[in-house]
Amino acid sequence: MKLSIVVGTRPQLIKISPLIRRIEKERDIRLQFIDTGQHYDYELNKTFYDELRLPASEFLDIGSGTPGEQTGNALIAVEREIIKFNPDLALVIGDTNSALAGALAAVKQKIPVGHIEAGLRSFDRRMPEEINRIIVDHVSDHLFAPTKNAVNNLMREGIPKDKIFFTHDITVDACLENYEIAKEKSKILEKLNINPRDYVLVTAHRQENVDDKRNLEKLVNALTKLEKPTIFPVHPRTLKNMKAFSLLEKLGKNCTLTKPLGYFDFLMLLKNAACVVTDSGGVQKEALILKTPCVTIRTTTEWPETIKLNANVLVGLDGKRIINEVNRRSNNEFHRAMEDIKSPYGEGKTSESILDAILGLQQ
Ligand code: UD1
Ligand code: UDP
Repeated sequence: MKLSIVVGTRPQLIKISPLIRRIEKERDIRLQFIDTGQHYDYELNKTFYDELRLPASEFLDIGSGTPGEQTGNALIAVEREIIKFNPDLALVIGDTNSALAGALAAVKQKIPVGHIEAGLRSFDRRMPEEINRIIVDHVSDHLFAPTKNAVNNLMREGIPKDKIFFTHDITVDACLENYEIAKEKSKILEKLNINPRDYVLVTAHRQENVDDKRNLEKLVNALTKLEKPTIFPVHPRTLKNMKAFSLLEKLGKNCTLTKPLGYFDFLMLLKNAACVVTDSGGVQKEALILKTPCVTIRTTTEWPETIKLNANVLVGLDGKRIINEVNRRSNNEFHRAMEDIKSPYGEGKTSESILDAILGLQQ
């Protein structure tokens, strides 16, 4: 079987890594690994090739741009690679512009498409990711759904049941496998001179939160009022806007800003945080898996299981709620309750399930 995999951003490199590891052991699969280059900074790209031992990719260097430019450039560049390789199947993962471009490039060349993380919905069409998810799901031939909720979403939208595979969530594989390595390798707590549970970890990069000055200011104001110090590895989109809106100096001494971190250091910080404040999709789940309380600075989520289980709460950019929820969730009692939460995302066997499903398609 000839298989193309298309990725382009940090979370895609992370989430695809367990599957690539297994594919590399399959003699019957020839892999074309395409990286659009939507993310290109060392800290968002190369560092994950090194840590996660990813194979060399066709790196297409499409870079940043307006949504149309970025998606269009990726579509043209991926199509060229797909025509050259002529795969039996193309796999895309998640909801980025690179996933959309990969799916469109393949389907228009009459190559069957498989979508990993299919069926997720935030039901908020203002998010570019929601549009991407819907389109990718509806042009895909094989949908690998991480949750029962996702399966139901797909069926509600009329996607035939025989196209859907309930595989659980591949983030679990990546998180559990790499946390074991992180425990050995990461020295980030020592490097930042912080103790477990003595800090709040922060990530923010959603365009709705960071591209608007008033919204980013709301977040910065809330962070300065938290009791515990914060560690904030800053996404380049957010850094650019913090500089443009003169908000960097407002953060003050209580906040340690770092470059985006490698996966081992990030998982170590997440596991040992009193609480995480985030707008990331992946971090909401990883927090549940590692049993760290999560406060999500959004009003919707495509991972509603985290909310139902009270491992996570949606607070938007309401400063008071951010502060109250971080305080409430940072104490020992809350941490003990987190220990009892059973993850609805599977046990870390999703890459095997997806590989089995792919191999089964040939029979
Ligand atoms: C993208 C995805 C988002 C995902 C996120 C993961 C879309 C629509 N968005 O958002 O779903 O959660 O990746 O992190 O696909 N930049 C750099 N260096 C880089 C990459 C980006 O400086 O290596 C800066 C550029 O100024 C760029 C901005 O960040 O314009 C935004 O990058 P982009 O890839 O468009 O979107 P993300 O916010 O990263
Ligand atoms: N992550 C990382 N370093 C960081 C911040 C996040 O390795 O400094 C990891 C995190 O553990 C998760 C993924 O990046 O696996 C999430 O990426 P991001 O928040 O950019 O995207 P999203 O999941 O929202 O699409």
